[in-house]
Amino acid sequence: MQYKIGIIGAGNMGEALIRGLLHSKRVRPNEIIASRRNAKKLAGYRRQYRIHTTSSNSEIMESAENIILAIKPQNIDLLLPEIKKSLKKNHLILSIAAGIDTGKLKKGLKNHNAIVRVMPNLPALVDLGISGIYCTPKVSSRQRRLAHQIFEAVGKTVEVPNEKWLDAITGLSGTGPAYLFAMIEALISAGKKVGLPESLSKHLTLETILGAAQMALQSDEAPEKLRARVTSKKGTTWAAMKVFKKRKFWKLIEEAVGAATKRAKELRGKK
Ligand SMILES: NC(=O)c1ccc[n+]([C@@H]2O[C@H](COP(=O)([O-])OP(=O)(O)OC[C@H]3O[C@@H](n4cnc5c(N)ncnc54)[C@H](OP(=O)(O)O)[C@@H]3O)[C@@H](O)[C@H]2O)c1
Repeated sequence: MQYKIGIIGAGNMGEALIRGLLHSKRVRPNEIIASRRNAKKLAGYRRQYRIHTTSSNSEIMESAENIILAIKPQNIDLLLPEIKKSLKKNHLILSIAAGIDTGKLKKGLKNHNAIVRVMPNLPALVDLGISGIYCTPKVSSRQRRLAHQIFEAVGKTVEVPNEKWLDAITGLSGTGPAYLFAMIEALISAGKKVGLPESLSKHLTLETILGAAQMALQSDEAPEKLRARVTSKKGTTWAAMKVFKKRKFWKLIEEAVGAATKRAKELRGKK
């Protein structure tokens, strides 16, 4: 096959993968082909990334070995009959479409064996994503390695042995950036309420979140321990944590992640 990677539906996530793959130097521009319907956008990708592009998904199937389905879940039903005509035994299909399970993909793709389902998250756009990966049993170890390499180009990867876990991953890390954006909004506004200018409040909030995440990543101590270390009796953190406890902050987050996971399951059922 002419191309190593074919990306069907190169929108936000697809473009992040193109940029990440080229940046990681794992793939050369002439080893990638990408599709979408907007011709202007495709011309932009050709100029910026020097990759090949096409408006024909069949051309992707004919010329690329590893196919990333990066279209929206609602477009999958139309896409599967279109691409199954040119499906070959050695194709590896990697789908990032939220809520579309491998059973559905397999059914729509003539019982194809090599299917990988991935749940990335938004920070993939800045190469700091975390992707949950589930490989169907017949995916070879070479294909599994490749799946990790592709998504490592935009961050980290974790593999799960059970596809059902992808609902929980959707609820935790897939939806997770929004929890933190909400926390960022709340902290910026709280900073303003206690007298800081907005720009300073934003700067302090973002650096604090980045620093705390880095510290938790680098430390061997559990987050509770790290928190306990900065909480002295009757101190400022103690005063703040009293409010967190009273308002059941942990329960609130548990409920939000639970609701997102439940919704992921419901949407998967509907699809
Ligand atoms: N964004 C996230 O944070 C995130 C997280 C996890 C998973 N995902 C999953 O990633 C997938 C892509 O999300 P996204 O945010 O990148 O969406 P997006 O920006 O809308 O990208 C999808 C692209 O598919 C193209 N498209 C639609 N129908 C097509 C067709 N028949 N053939 C070829 N291309 C077609 C559209 O471009 P044209 O209109 O030009 O065709 C569009 O740009 C979704 O399935 C989503 O569930 C996203």
